[in-house]
Amino acid sequence: MIEERHLESAIKELFENLRFEEEPKGLYDPLRYMMEIGGKRIRPRLCLLTYSLFKDNLTESVLAPAAAIEVFHSFTLIHDDIMDKADVRRGVPTVYRKWDENTAILSGDVMSIESYRLLAKAPAEALPEALKLFSKTAAQVCEGQQYDMDFENLDSVPMADYMKMIGLKTAVLIACAAKMGALIAGASDQVCELLYRYGYDLGLAFQVTDDWLDTYGDPKVFGKAIGGDILNNKKTWLMIKALEKASNSEFKALQTAMDMPVDTEDQKQKKIAEVKRIYDGLNIGEEAKQEIIRLHQQSMAYVSQMGLPEESADLLRKYASALIGRKK
Ligand code: IPE
Ligand code: IPE
Ligand code: MG
Ligand code: MG
Ligand code: MG
Repeated sequence: MIEERHLESAIKELFENLRFEEEPKGLYDPLRYMMEIGGKRIRPRLCLLTYSLFKDNLTESVLAPAAAIEVFHSFTLIHDDIMDKADVRRGVPTVYRKWDENTAILSGDVMSIESYRLLAKAPAEALPEALKLFSKTAAQVCEGQQYDMDFENLDSVPMADYMKMIGLKTAVLIACAAKMGALIAGASDQVCELLYRYGYDLGLAFQVTDDWLDTYGDPKVFGKAIGGDILNNKKTWLMIKALEKASNSEFKALQTAMDMPVDTEDQKQKKIAEVKRIYDGLNIGEEAKQEIIRLHQQSMAYVSQMGLPEESADLLRKYASALIGRKK
């Protein structure tokens, strides 16, 4: 077992020491920009945490794959911001706004390749399985992102379809991070699988939290613009639950709100306020919090099945609580 503060300093050091090519600047500067601002780094943290439950020597062969997951994640964010027309991320302008769309596309592409280069540093005995897991996950994230975009144009979406969509776009990468660390440490198949499920349900809770924060978060802390999901007619947990609970007139009001134009700042604020008003009338924010708790508990059930020492199980529980309690 590795002490928590050692894990934290290892993560800090890992991202300080990551080196990428310099030229052409238009390709690599945006990559460095994303990696240097840094987000919460929850995925590499989880990968190193599950590794540390079984081994206590943090070497390149786990640090590089942990970084691979974060580089891949950051790549998906660069493309996601084009798709979601988002101006701000991690408290700073998004790559396509700071540079332009073509730059964001190509820098994203090279980051996805960079992530494979880093993953290839996994130990030889774990590499085939690690590559299989990573490639499957990467394709699933793209699938989820496509569903997310498709859903923008639908009047309503069944909750089960939403769960499948966020399972793909968000939960599988967190599940992959949880499994990857254990896989590289040589943990049993059974424990790897339980860690995957733990990460998956936690990932679902994480995305519902993200949906909640997009409407109800503190703009000074969140690092992204509030209301972006409403402006894009995203079928978030909040929107789907509201459509489910709505009376006929509320359902019509939501459809009318989704048709509201968003060309000017004034129009944007009106649309956000109108959807929020309907959500508040239906108590949607509170229901989302209940759902986050339910998904979190679902994830905790796997922790007790792993047969780990209590100290290790507690670290997984602690990690999960921090994730769910996030404000950004
Ligand atoms: C944002 O992920 C995308 C989602 C899956 C909700 P994070 O909230 O982990 O973003 P960063 O990396 O901390 O910026
Ligand atoms: C993003 O979901 C999931 C991926 C980037 C794969 P969101 O679109 O909700 O993420 P944010 O809110 O922009 O970070
Ligand atoms: Mg998106
Ligand atoms: Mg987005
Ligand atoms: Mg979001």
